[in-house]
Amino acid sequence: MVDVKNIVVIGVGLMGNGIAQVALMAKYNVTIVDVKQEFIDKGIASIEGGLKRLEAKGKLVTADVMSGLKTSLDLASAVKDADYIVEAVVEKMDVKKNIFKTCDENAPPHCVIASNTSTMSITEMATATNRADKCIGMHFFNPVPLMRLVEVIAGEKSSEESMEIGIKVSESLPCLRGDRYIAKVLKDKPGFIVNRLNAPVSIYSNYLLDTCLEKGIPFESLDADYESKGPMSPLVLADYVGIDTSYHGQNYYAETLSEEFSPGKVITNMYKEGKLGRKTGQGFYDWSKGRPQPDFSKISKAGLVDLDIRLAIRLNEGCRILEEGIASGWKIIDDANMAGMNAAGPFERGIENYENYVKKLGAIAEKIGSTYLKPCELFRSGKFVDMK
Ligand SMILES: NC(=O)c1ccc[n+]([C@@H]2O[C@H](COP(=O)([O-])OP(=O)(O)OC[C@H]3O[C@@H](n4cnc5c(N)ncnc54)[C@H](O)[C@@H]3O)[C@@H](O)[C@H]2O)c1
Repeated sequence: MVDVKNIVVIGVGLMGNGIAQVALMAKYNVTIVDVKQEFIDKGIASIEGGLKRLEAKGKLVTADVMSGLKTSLDLASAVKDADYIVEAVVEKMDVKKNIFKTCDENAPPHCVIASNTSTMSITEMATATNRADKCIGMHFFNPVPLMRLVEVIAGEKSSEESMEIGIKVSESLPCLRGDRYIAKVLKDKPGFIVNRLNAPVSIYSNYLLDTCLEKGIPFESLDADYESKGPMSPLVLADYVGIDTSYHGQNYYAETLSEEFSPGKVITNMYKEGKLGRKTGQGFYDWSKGRPQPDFSKISKAGLVDLDIRLAIRLNEGCRILEEGIASGWKIIDDANMAGMNAAGPFERGIENYENYVKKLGAIAEKIGSTYLKPCELFRSGKFVDMK
């Protein structure tokens, strides 16, 4: 197997700089590539910022770690000695394919090309190269130094050896919250494991939001329905992530999985009106004075949310992931969700009482006229219980 020493990270935005930081900390020679010097400079500042916080805790010496870093604005020459490439540019297939092509034409024959795409087909990116066997997915979670999960994804033509190299590199990258958890994604399907598991909750959320709109119920009352809100209530979180991200994500799944994922009225209106949340200062909440802190003790509940249904939806989708052969067992799905989202997966909690969740899901699917949410065969039969 190739001994990886030189890693090239392409695109040094939010994800690329996190990936470069942990690769430097693992003592690889790292080259970062972007399209403008100002993006490179911003990337360097961000990497240094992350390292300095660790230096302050006595964990490393920033200058030593940074000595492994090179930068480039010319992709073709940057990949000449690469053993391993991680592409982390914008989520656009044509841009990614161009990059895969340039890498293929200029990198040494043994070099593996990995994409950090959250959603797109590795198999399609690989068609831009003459080394489809050496193209894989390497999906990190944000922020990279803190979130333990890396999904290593097999495209249709990825070789077992390339997957093993991807897994070995992923395992070698430090994580500040404990050991990395590597989930092997066996099929190149939309959303891979963790994003796919959670995606159909949006069908239910859109139903709830549109019901609020219809009945004139304030959105914060929907937020008030959640007993345990974690660090951010669901709609504060939606604002934080960005309504545009939800809108585009839902449209992507509408194209690739089922039309039922199409954004509802509320999300579509907010997107069109530019109420994108934190980044525009207004979403479900007003962000003009910083993060909103709704006082839920004073907000009346909408009485619409049933948390069991959210769990049932995720259990059902987890069963689909197993049915489609994307993951080899439910423990991997649960563990991946914890490592990537800091939240419990659905199986450990839902297995015991699964018949009840099948019933509840069947009833809500009927009520809102959803075919996608109907319990799948593996869920209904309970056979998933043995697929640990
Ligand atoms: N943001 C997240 O939470 C997250 C999580 C997992 C995966 N991802 C995926 O990671 C990738 C990057 O996302 P991000 O949030 O870091 O984006 P970003 O917009 O912060 O950064 C993208 C960077 O790529 C650069 N770039 C664009 N075209 C380029 C090219 N042709 N060559 C070199 N550099 C180029 C841009 O200048 C920018 O610096 C996307 O595929 C995204 O889906 C994002």
